[in-house]
Amino acid sequence: MCGVVGYIGGKNAVDVVVNGLKKLEYRGYDSSGVAVVKDGQLQIIRSVGKLKNLEENIEKKHLKSNISIGHTRWATHGKPSEENAHPHADPTKSIVIVHNGIVENYAELKSDLEKEGKEFKSETDTEVIAHLIKKHYKNNLLFAVQESLKEIKGSYALGVICKDEPDKIICARQDAPLIIGIGKGENFLASDIPALLSYTRDMIFLENGDIAELTTSRIIITDIENNVKKREVKNIKWDYVQTEKKGYKHFMLKEIYEQPRTIEDTFMGRIYPDEGRVYIKKIKLSEKDIKNISNVYIVGCGTSYHSGLVSKFFFENFAKIHAEVDIASEFRYREPILNDRTLVMVISQSGETADTLAALRLAKSKGCITLAICNVVGSSMSREADHVLYTHCGPEIGVASTKAFTGQIAAIYILALDWAWRKKSLSKEELKRYLKELWEIPVKIRNFLKESGSVREVAKKFAHKRNFLYLGRNVNYPVALEGALKLKEISYIHAEGYAAGEIKHGPIALIDNDMPVVAIAVKSKIYEKIISNIEEAKARGGTIILIASESDKIALDNEDSVIYVPDCDEFISPILSVIPLQLLSYYVAVMLGCDVDQPRNLAKSVTVE
Ligand code: M6R
Repeated sequence: MCGVVGYIGGKNAVDVVVNGLKKLEYRGYDSSGVAVVKDGQLQIIRSVGKLKNLEENIEKKHLKSNISIGHTRWATHGKPSEENAHPHADPTKSIVIVHNGIVENYAELKSDLEKEGKEFKSETDTEVIAHLIKKHYKNNLLFAVQESLKEIKGSYALGVICKDEPDKIICARQDAPLIIGIGKGENFLASDIPALLSYTRDMIFLENGDIAELTTSRIIITDIENNVKKREVKNIKWDYVQTEKKGYKHFMLKEIYEQPRTIEDTFMGRIYPDEGRVYIKKIKLSEKDIKNISNVYIVGCGTSYHSGLVSKFFFENFAKIHAEVDIASEFRYREPILNDRTLVMVISQSGETADTLAALRLAKSKGCITLAICNVVGSSMSREADHVLYTHCGPEIGVASTKAFTGQIAAIYILALDWAWRKKSLSKEELKRYLKELWEIPVKIRNFLKESGSVREVAKKFAHKRNFLYLGRNVNYPVALEGALKLKEISYIHAEGYAAGEIKHGPIALIDNDMPVVAIAVKSKIYEKIISNIEEAKARGGTIILIASESDKIALDNEDSVIYVPDCDEFISPILSVIPLQLLSYYVAVMLGCDVDQPRNLAKSVTVE
């Protein structure tokens, strides 16, 4: 879950690498470092903490070169410290590497190398790779990397430079994302697209097993046996300014406000409400294929798991297909019943989450039809799944996922409606109505965001509380889970999401007058039921923060704090009801002085198990 960047060309490589690392800081931010070759020597600078510490260090040492690799770290082996920060060099300081991933057999390799008299300076698994490359080095860096990787088990996105071959960077990929950026008289590498967008839009997404040699004028991609590989160059359309804060104090706030547009971008050109039709070009499943699907497993982690829980309602209610939802880390280890009539749909913003990727691979190995709902173009899941449906949210930088959640819901909503059309499980009138509901959502969110001052007031009132309960039912139960997750991860406040009907089976014991209860009670067929659950909570002294439909005046009279959202159909309501919860957690975190975009202990892409 670290970020890797490399550059070779006419610019000051250190500037390019540090700029790239800034765009990858979401991947890890406990320490960082850069390495260059200058005047025939390797120079390495590393710092603990945020990237600004590294920048200060670089400035003091006036580091400049035309070749550099850099790294921002999320610790796996060894605590965050300067010694454990990347880049790591071999003892003679002739080879230096940056690495994202895990060397699973590092203990064995380290002990063998120690027996050969090699000394280690860090507690990391990565350092063994530097030692191995040095061991195999005979004036050919590419060959030395190929040979070393034959001994390594695990995952890696690797950047390597050598003082004796200052005209090249070697990089390699196995189960961790790595992209090559193509320039004129310069080339780049990075863990993710945003790091390179200000320099180039032409990118190659390396595949597992790829090892590449970059010079200023050439890119050669081989496998471990030195067979040359051809890879497609993709032109990335993402807007560079999407990776900037654009005047917002935090990426998270900007991304919350972007949602009307990102939802629109996700459905635009794909839905025609007047005809009651959906056209999703990229999914090549025929009517016969869809009718043949017996059941759907929906798999994801964190926020993507929550959007999966919402999606279950779409498959069952629209497409009339049995759907189950699983946490990826559970699914992959519990022998699910899978066959060639099962569709396994993985949901992932990054398309790189290790557990979700493993779930996808398991499904493929069992002959299932696989579909990935991803945001990042060219990500591992989007390439490995049989079918991919992209959300068009643009880069999500804030560690707390917001626009990805609503984009995923919009994408799967239209997918299920498409299947409903093909299976004739909904009437034309129903299809038109559901599509119109989605069509109107962006305007409703825009209107809500304009008048969202009430959320700030509620945040002010409750920011000092140490525990929160979130309640929802049916399609809004996952929204309760999502609201609680948002609060936990950026405010470090304990919060639990529950199906409201379940509280009397235990959690109600927690409620007293110090426990705010956030209840999502928008108009739905079980509206009265959740209102009864709220009454039960109130009767035990709970202070209620109600998310209610605008037209619901009863709620205004009775509840302690109310945030109104525009009225909409209940199936699409999670897209709206989650917005105040995202904002609530945001404002609470800001009021508590928390690091909103880079909360402690977290990283944006969890590419390790
Ligand atoms: O990239 P993915 O959607 O696969 O990521 C899954 C989770 O790691 C992610 O949603 C995480 O829970 C977020 N920090 C939640 O805000």
